[in-house]
Amino acid sequence: MNISPSSSEDRPLLHAQKLAKSFNGTPALRDAELSVAAGEIVAVAGPSGSGKSTLLHCLAGILVPDDGFVRYGDREVSRLPDVARSKLRRNEFGFVFQFGGLVAELSIEENIALPLLLAHGGRRRAALHEANVWLERFALDGLARRRPGELSGGEAQRVAVARAMAHRPRVVFADEPTGALDSAAGDIVLTALTEAARTQGTSVVLITHDARVAARADRTVRVEDGRTREDDADMPGSADHRTVRK
Ligand SMILES: Nc1ncnc2c1ncn2[C@@H]1O[C@H](COP(=O)(O)OP(=O)(O)O)[C@@H](O)[C@H]1O
Ligand SMILES: [Mg+2]
Repeated sequence: MNISPSSSEDRPLLHAQKLAKSFNGTPALRDAELSVAAGEIVAVAGPSGSGKSTLLHCLAGILVPDDGFVRYGDREVSRLPDVARSKLRRNEFGFVFQFGGLVAELSIEENIALPLLLAHGGRRRAALHEANVWLERFALDGLARRRPGELSGGEAQRVAVARAMAHRPRVVFADEPTGALDSAAGDIVLTALTEAARTQGTSVVLITHDARVAARADRTVRVEDGRTREDDADMPGSADHRTVRK
């Protein structure tokens, strides 16, 4: 693949094109594309089974697409060898899995400290301290020594977001991070993500079914039947002559 050496400033931080991915011969992504600038918050919406999680996994280098490419900075994520790809993921990305993905054997503070240690090395004590700062920020103080199995769905979801953000990644990918949260808890999560975007230039790609969550993103991309399209429903002048399918 020939990527022209254009100036890096006007290129998106993350860019995916013509992504295709099938599972057992059934396409989940057909022709998906997505660009994310540094500091940009992009919401991904669409019906269940349309390919949103698959898209996020390909973008984050968790899945390798069958076709197309994902570029991060000047690296082609989808073509990196496994070891380089996990290293990139560990250092530059944070991922909130749709179904939590906390390590059951570790305490909550250890779960949050783990990516910090993996990304930056350093001392366990410092990482645990940092983990507790995040717990407080997410209104989860008191849960530090508990295990994931002892938490409510909403608590576990906030821990998963804290874990994805604690090492200050350049990109946070979040698969329905507010799905199990009441609006107050959802607001804490969204505020933390928005603040990271505005103050540290963190890019955020989040899957959501919630129009209020999508409204706080800079733009929304819709996935339908494995294909992406920009949702311009909230652009001035577009609402009058356009039907938005629900
Ligand atoms: N690991 C997998 N193995 C087999 N099929 C999968 C796998 N992951 C996703 N799929 C299928 O791919 C399609 C898209 O799934 P997914 O990306 O999870 O959609 P969404 O997140 O929009 O609900 C679905 O038909 C789903 O069943
Ligand atoms: Mg999904």
